[in-house]
Amino acid sequence: MRDIYSMLISPQQDNLNKIVILNPKGGSGKSTIATNLAAWYAQQGRQPTIMDFDPQGSTIKWLKRRPGALPAIHGIAAYKKSMQVTRSWQLRVPDDTVNVIVDSPAGIRPDELRKITRDSTKILVPVLPSSMDIDAASRCIADLLLVAKVNRNDHKLAVVANRTRKHTKSLAKLMRFLNSLGIPIVAVLRDSQNYVHSAEQGIGLHEMQPSRVRPDLEQFERIARWLDGWSERRQTVTNITEIQRLPFSNVSFFRRRQADWA
Ligand SMILES: Nc1ncnc2c1ncn2[C@@H]1O[C@H](COP(=O)(O)OP(=O)(O)OP(=O)(O)O)[C@@H](O)[C@H]1O
Ligand SMILES: [Mg+2]
Repeated sequence: MRDIYSMLISPQQDNLNKIVILNPKGGSGKSTIATNLAAWYAQQGRQPTIMDFDPQGSTIKWLKRRPGALPAIHGIAAYKKSMQVTRSWQLRVPDDTVNVIVDSPAGIRPDELRKITRDSTKILVPVLPSSMDIDAASRCIADLLLVAKVNRNDHKLAVVANRTRKHTKSLAKLMRFLNSLGIPIVAVLRDSQNYVHSAEQGIGLHEMQPSRVRPDLEQFERIARWLDGWSERRQTVTNITEIQRLPFSNVSFFRRRQADWA
């Protein structure tokens, strides 16, 4: 996989919304979020394309399992492309695509972060709640800011806390770190077999039985709102600030989240 990220040059279409999902730590939920976002946009008729940069091809395999009756999603197996096709990736994004969702592989190096995030409109970093994962995510965010030169003031970087069963000290530590940088946690996804089952079937959570997935959908709505709006992003940062000032056990927000996790 030699420098395939060079394919991610400036898109021709001004209105292309390029959402990059990354975390060098394996298994943090990158493909899960990528596929669910793609299915979400597809259901809204917003023509998503998934670019899969992971040689495991998880999102492309998910796409192949997707039932034909559901709204279509265009997939690009970017991991298969070579340097010869560099600079032509945007030609393969269909004209009617507005949202390009980039799923990145585990183990992406700091020097590759700059290429994969170039011209991105949004960057989502899913983080699992263990202290090892949180340390790795903190390093990844530092690399995004310092090596990839993502500007915090662009408000395009956010974290999704994934597989979070309860509020842990390590998650509180991550929140303090992010809050000091003004980076929001836009959603807290519970640990649920819904994610596993939807992945197996090539569908998104909102394509499952509604009563089963309600708390999960609420969180995806939060992600989608943050992806769509500047004002909502600012609001989210404020909320995180408020949350951080208060002891966790006393905050109604966390009571609600804990009810979600139960
Ligand atoms: N919130 C969740 N609850 C339960 N299972 C989850 C959740 N999120 C992800 N998973 C499961 O965890 C596994 C890893 O998730 P996923 O493949 O999305 O991670 P990844 O970051 O893309 O991994 P990799 O780095 O290997 O590409 C998958 O089996 C997925 O179904
Ligand atoms: Mg993956």
